[in-house]
Order: sequence, then structure tokens, then C-alpha cells
Amino acid sequence: MAKIKTAFFCQNCGYESAKWSGKCPSCDQWNTFVEEKIQKDIPLRQQEWKSDHARVHKIVNLAEVTSTEEERWLTPDAELNRVLGGGIVPGSLVLVGGEPGIGKSTLFLQNALQLKQIKTLYISGEESEQQIKMRADRIGIKNDQFYLLTETSTQTIFQEIKKLQPQLVIVDSIQTLQSPFIESAPGSVSQIRETTAEMQRFAKESNTPVFLIGHITKDGTIAGPKILEHMVDTVLQFEGDQHYAYRILRTIKNRFGSTAELGIYEMTGQGLRQVTNPSEILISQREDALSGITIAATMEGMRPMLIEVQALVTQSVYGTPQRTATGFDSRRLQLLLAVLEKRGGFHFGVKDVFLNIVGGIKIEDPSIDLAVLCALLSSYEDTAIPNKVCFAGEVGLSGEIRAVNRIEQRIAEAEKLGFDKIFISRYNKKGTDFSKFNIEVIAVGRVEEVYQRLF
Ligand code: TYD
Ligand code: MG
Repeated sequence: MAKIKTAFFCQNCGYESAKWSGKCPSCDQWNTFVEEKIQKDIPLRQQEWKSDHARVHKIVNLAEVTSTEEERWLTPDAELNRVLGGGIVPGSLVLVGGEPGIGKSTLFLQNALQLKQIKTLYISGEESEQQIKMRADRIGIKNDQFYLLTETSTQTIFQEIKKLQPQLVIVDSIQTLQSPFIESAPGSVSQIRETTAEMQRFAKESNTPVFLIGHITKDGTIAGPKILEHMVDTVLQFEGDQHYAYRILRTIKNRFGSTAELGIYEMTGQGLRQVTNPSEILISQREDALSGITIAATMEGMRPMLIEVQALVTQSVYGTPQRTATGFDSRRLQLLLAVLEKRGGFHFGVKDVFLNIVGGIKIEDPSIDLAVLCALLSSYEDTAIPNKVCFAGEVGLSGEIRAVNRIEQRIAEAEKLGFDKIFISRYNKKGTDFSKFNIEVIAVGRVEEVYQRLF
């Protein structure tokens, strides 16, 4: 048996060093080095994953490579297909991150159960067979092609995989896997790096898609070194507010499609339900117009989504006014308040401001600005904006309303949901014919103009 060696690993980026140092030379983070046991060059190494007919790679001329139409498996879950860029790609390695309890295990168990023609192996290092069975009963889908393995050693896992020959592998979670070639504990940087590399080799050589579930640290990144994200083909993030039933599956990286995609689910008593028409749930059904509430016509990926914005502006009781934003960047809120203060002459400096995006969803589309600004004004003036009015525009530093992309799709969605009026940027009007819409399109150029039109 070889002597056990140790090395220091940066927990942030995975940089390996023979000695400890205070600052990582690779990512410049302080105090991230942890000593981990590693064991190199042991003969056991030969026993790792190898397919029986591994390909030998030689140099090829690109012109001679025949391009084949990329094969995809469409799952019954349209939201998952969408975030993967059009279905599962055989041989791809997908990492899914999310906070504990958000529903990662539920999502993948449910999807595997739905794929009735595909032999799936679900490897769990977190839960017992009984626990998984109970969850499957709760979801209520029967599937006789679904296999379970509660094991964490990659060596045993690959032996079992060879016997079963599954068509799809799900690992819950990558932090529990353990490679016999590495001494350190599961979840450590060197283990995660090694086990992911083994899974990657397996996926590529056997052309089997592998989903790795990963935990998330307090600051919202996937626990483990950044290189984990480089090693996989696709990184998805499952997020949502614990207090709401809505969950969002977002693409962070995708070698096979766009990263602008988004899937929406609702957690129910029988697992996750796909939300095919998000606008209907994100707008609260109310009879009367209330002050401080506006509707934004946003786009998430290729999908238009109408969402409710709520603002509350009150007289400040403390010297420093409060600014609280949920689901919206608080620096962006400060900026919009500064624009209103400077360009509109409103005195937000003596007011507390609270902002909330309904549904616990975090919106990244800048076109929500105009709706936020109008919600702030509506609460400031204590005057309601009519129910059937919505907004789509970005606000610039000089108070100009800027154009946003895919304006026609946004207008069409607003019209479909029964809105009478939509405020857009004047600059969006060029070259677009709005006469085909029944909804009234109001084009504005500046913040002052919006104010005059509304109040
Ligand atoms: P889980 O998939 O275990 O989360 P993760 O793997 O991300 O840690 O799901 C956790 C929560 O989901 C748990 O609090 C119970 C809830 N849940 C439901 O509300 N309905 C269901 O049908 C299932 C299976 C879970
Ligand atoms: Mg889990």
C-alpha cells in the first residue's frame, strides 16, 4: 500500500497545492485552503470505469467528420426539455444545483418515473430505499424500468452499472459519492473532482446521459470547486422561495442550447406540477385597483410572462430610510429611486420603500424597470393604476425609457390575458406595426411623460 499523501485544495476553485497558503494564487480568495488526503498511483487505478470497447481517438480532419443530427430524447416534462435546450442529449453530463428541500430529488425521481420506455438507474447516497419508495408512492407513477441503488462508492456503482446497462443514470448527490482512489472524505474538493471526472468518462464512453444533483452553499453557488461546472455539459439551477409553492429551473450553462431558458413548476402534494401558463398564476386576481401595484410584461428566455409588482412607499421614521426589495436587485431599486428624485423631483429620500415581485420569482429581465417605477409612483401618490394596464420598458439613468427585445411577443401576451393598455418605449415603435393588436399601445420616451399619462 502506497504511503498516504496529502495536498491542500482551494475550496473555491479547486486549485491544488503542496503547501498551505493564506491566499489562493488562482482565484485570489483568502483562507480557502483545506488539507485533504490524496493517494496517487496506486495499482487499483486500473479498475475504474472502462467500457468494454473503448474508442481510440486519432486526429481527424474536420471536413471529413460527418455531422449527424443531434439526437434528443423528449421527456414528458416540457419544462425540463426546454431548459435542456430541447430534450436530453445522450452522453451528456448535467449538474443540477439547488438549496436543500427545494425539490431536486422530487424533480428527478418524478422525471425518471415518467420515462417509461427508458431503463433508469437512480443512485442515492442520501436516502434509503424505503424513503425513495415512499416518495415515489406519493408521486403516484408506476414504472417497472426504474432501478434504485443506495451506494456511494463509484467502484461498486460502475460494477452495478455494467450488470444493469441502464440508459439513464441519476446521482443524488455528487457530494455523497466516494472514489476508492482518493482518501479524503466525500464532499471534499478532491473527491468531487474525481467522482465527477469518473462520471464524465462513463457518460461519454457509454453515451449514457447522467444527471448529477448537487448541493448549494450559503452564497448560492454549487458546493464544490468551480471546475465542477466546467467539467459538465449543462448546469441547471433549481430555485424558489421556501414560502411559495413555485419553483424555477434555470439554465446556467448549456453546451447544447440557450442559457436564457426557464422552467416553472408548482410543488403540490403529488410532486411537482408543470406550470404551462405562468402569467395566470403570477397575477393576483383582484377586483379593485390598488395603489402600488403594477403589471410588468417580461420575457424569461423565449417565454413572455406577465408578473405583478408591488411597492409600498411610506414616511420614514428613522434617519436613514429603508429600502427593501424581494425578487428584485436592491441596487437597481436605489438607481430607479435616484432617477425619480433627480428627473422627476420626487422626494424619496424621506420615505421607506418596500418592493416585492409576486410569486417569489427573481426576474432578471430589465424590462421590469418601468413597472417597478410606476408601482413606486403609484404608492407615492397613493393613486391606483387601473387593473388592465401593463408595462414593458427599461429605465435609463437620464430618465429615458429604453427599448426592450421581443416587444411584439410581450404585447401579444398582454392582449391574450385581457389587458387594455400597454406602456412601451417610444424607441420600440420604429419599424413595428402595432395596428394588428387590439390592445392600446402607448409609446413613451421619458419618465415625466409616463407620469403625466398616469396621474
Ligand atoms: P426534496 O425533493 O427532498 O428536496 P431536495 O432533494 O432538493 O432536498 O423535496 C423536499 C420538499 O418537497 C419536502 O419538504 C417535501 C416536499 N414535497 C411535497 O410538497 N410534495 C411531494 O409530492 C414531495 C415528493 C415532496
Ligand atoms: Mg434530495
